Amino acid sequence: DDTKAGVKGIVDAGVTTIPRFFHFPASLLTFRPATTSPSLSIPIIDLSLPRPRAVQLVTAAAREWGFFQVINHSVPLNHISAVLSAVKAFNELPTEAKAAYYTHDQTRGFAFNTNFDLYKTGAASWKDTVRVVTAPTPPDPAVIPEVCREELLAWDQTARGLAARLMGLLSEGLGVEAGRLQGLSCLEMRAVLGHYYPYCPQPELTLGVVAHTDPTALTVLVQNEVGGLLIKKGSVFDDGEWFEIDPVPGAIIINIGDILQIISNDEYKSAEHKVIANPRQTPRISVVVFCVPGKTDDSTYYGPLPELVSKEKPARYRQFTMSEFRRLMFGRVQGVNSVLCGF
Ligand code: SIN
Ligand code: FE2
Repeated sequence: DDTKAGVKGIVDAGVTTIPRFFHFPASLLTFRPATTSPSLSIPIIDLSLPRPRAVQLVTAAAREWGFFQVINHSVPLNHISAVLSAVKAFNELPTEAKAAYYTHDQTRGFAFNTNFDLYKTGAASWKDTVRVVTAPTPPDPAVIPEVCREELLAWDQTARGLAARLMGLLSEGLGVEAGRLQGLSCLEMRAVLGHYYPYCPQPELTLGVVAHTDPTALTVLVQNEVGGLLIKKGSVFDDGEWFEIDPVPGAIIINIGDILQIISNDEYKSAEHKVIANPRQTPRISVVVFCVPGKTDDSTYYGPLPELVSKEKPARYRQFTMSEFRRLMFGRVQGVNSVLCGF
């Protein structure tokens, strides 16, 4: 079965025109690029700064952009390169070896696919993906291919630790009790996704990932040197300008997801982002850790923190359970915030 070779298999077959089902509608391909202004770019924040300063910078970035990079975070560079290399190594295994892992079954501990059905845009994106669900139930390590097993599992722990640290800073920046966000178990459901964006011969016709917001509390992301991740500055309803996240060796990208935007009552922003199809011969690799609240029972509700709601700033969203959130989210590109907002 050809599809089991992934998009990389199509590239390796030597195509110069991409198959039709990768063609995105023109409306999803056009966007307003940033008017280059050196003073306006996605923040790179030094986490070794004194805590009050770090809180200030992280909070400002979360409000203004919803995305930022952190440096001096104490995660060694070789730990980041190891997980990126492991994802590359899996994708560069012989097709037969990868095909054994090919599935669209969301319940599998480890899955390899080309994300044909993930977003209901009517087009497939120019990338291949591996996914490990790491929490609340860790996978049987044996289901993960050996070339990337240790690296993906270790990276999940590193990302969780960094996310917890950021949640502390983000709590403080909201002016709520320290530990308030951590107390909501926002990082207890996790998945690690490794993306491989092969060279695309017609990058103007398709995308690496269509524009979307993340249905998470927080997302932790690393990328190799190729670039191509674009962030929109502006609301999800307007045609804001798109800025590229410059690859910075050793930097880790953090983004606010839909759930934290809701919990913060719109103080923090879940920004739209997308990845262009890779025009370069070098594959683009990224590793994304989705952190989502882990309490899925029917009596745990999430919604704007009461401390952040007042007469002047009424709740922008209603309360919901995580199982309701997942139901509402199914098949959506833009997240559920517009459904949960308004009464
Ligand atoms: C995504 O946001 O879905 C992918 C981001 C990336 O590959 O950098
Ligand atoms: Fe995303």
